Amino acid sequence: MTSTLKVLMVTPELAPFASVGGLGDAVGSLTKALGQNGLDVRVVMPLYGFMSPDEDWVAKEGPMIVNLAGEAFCRVWETGYPGSENVKIYCLEYNKYFQRHEIYTGPWGSHGDNNERFAFLSRAALDLCHFIKWYPDIMHCHDWTTGLVPVFLNTTERETALKNTASVVTIHNLQHQGIFEKGILDFAGLHQTEFRSDSLESLGCVNFLKGGLYHANKITTVSPQYAQEIRTAEFGCGLDPVLNFRGADLIGVLNGIDTQGWNPETDPYLPANYSTRDFSGKAACKEALQRRFGLEVDPHIPIFCAIARLYWQKGIDLLADIIPGLLSEMKIQVLVLGSGEHHIEWYLSDLCNRYPGKVGVYIGYDKALSHLMEAGSDFFVMPSRFEPCGLNQMYSMRYGTVPVARSTGGLVNTIDQYNESDGSGTGFRFEEASCHGLYYSIGWACSTYYDRPQHFLKMRKTCMEKDFSWKTSALHYNDIYNWAISAKRPL
Ligand code: GLC
Repeated sequence: MTSTLKVLMVTPELAPFASVGGLGDAVGSLTKALGQNGLDVRVVMPLYGFMSPDEDWVAKEGPMIVNLAGEAFCRVWETGYPGSENVKIYCLEYNKYFQRHEIYTGPWGSHGDNNERFAFLSRAALDLCHFIKWYPDIMHCHDWTTGLVPVFLNTTERETALKNTASVVTIHNLQHQGIFEKGILDFAGLHQTEFRSDSLESLGCVNFLKGGLYHANKITTVSPQYAQEIRTAEFGCGLDPVLNFRGADLIGVLNGIDTQGWNPETDPYLPANYSTRDFSGKAACKEALQRRFGLEVDPHIPIFCAIARLYWQKGIDLLADIIPGLLSEMKIQVLVLGSGEHHIEWYLSDLCNRYPGKVGVYIGYDKALSHLMEAGSDFFVMPSRFEPCGLNQMYSMRYGTVPVARSTGGLVNTIDQYNESDGSGTGFRFEEASCHGLYYSIGWACSTYYDRPQHFLKMRKTCMEKDFSWKTSALHYNDIYNWAISAKRPL
């Protein structure tokens, strides 16, 4: 391929505009990296109720027709990507579906019309290309919400100007698949013949992600380890047979991170900056963090922190369960930031009240505080039951905060196990998703901190020297795009 590759990202989230978890961050930083590599990369996403176009945004002329069974009209806004102005972003304004403050779930659980909302997003992504007469080489779809795009490309778009456009689906989290009643096919304007087990049908329902996995030219997921795990019954969430069937087209590419936004040398959220040459700023961050949470201010007590959505996947319940035991045996402090399942929120808040000065909890999300926690802590705890990639362990390593993590998914690919004989490695990993496994690893980290301080300092430095930028992975995506194109348009 000599001409500039044209890529349209289709996504429900894009940081900094709209982001619930890691997906928005990952798509945002990949998009930026591809733009810097000279690709013509654009993004299409909904305009949610919490986003408001400012004066730099341009409304495209005329409403765009969205070709669902019943025609719909939507307004298209165009804007640039902060810091990467050559990347165009198209936001779809359609108030009936997107004028809300939550992306996937409202106060009473999942939005009941998510089937229509995300069929709309997928259909509108294709209609956008016709509307602006820009036909990408690749449509790169992210998770179940965009799973219908490859299905449309292989069916309704076979004779249109999009007939040469190839598709790549990236799985950020296989647990969410978009399973709905059959009627959504009619709504989407898809033919009933797609209701079959090697397309959209699954156990009598329509499964958006499954359709995407069957129809995409290439499938990626966000770490090599997770690419293997999802082919097993334990991690496959029922789609392991499909992923094995498509095994030759399934590739794991490790996510990078936004190394500008997460840089301890320049981070504006920190009271002091630091680098491997001078750690004094990190000590200042630790003191600020201890004060902020009302912990005992003592530079010698190690802080273990966790930042996560408080859901089963993340295993924070395992940490909550062992906090009393840890505090009775070890001189440590524990901090948690996040929100999610109410029983975990409640239990953590209760621990915070029971152990003043030792445990700090912030229920919710606070960007500045999350940066301070990554910088001021000594260890970062990630007891995930599964973790497709995980970004926080990379943020923490970049900030010299050593991870204690379960050996799963991207955590295996990013954290090298500590070796007690020479102090090499970048973290403490454990195998079993259990309180016991986590307890043992925190104990190991704690004894390393107190008894082998030279090893701890060496690990801290090794962590900070790791390259987690998108450089290599963005090049890998470039190859995958070319493979997808040759799969779609064989010579
Ligand atoms: C999802 C996964 C997480 C991954 C992120 C970005 O949130 O749970 O592991 O890092 O997507 O790909």
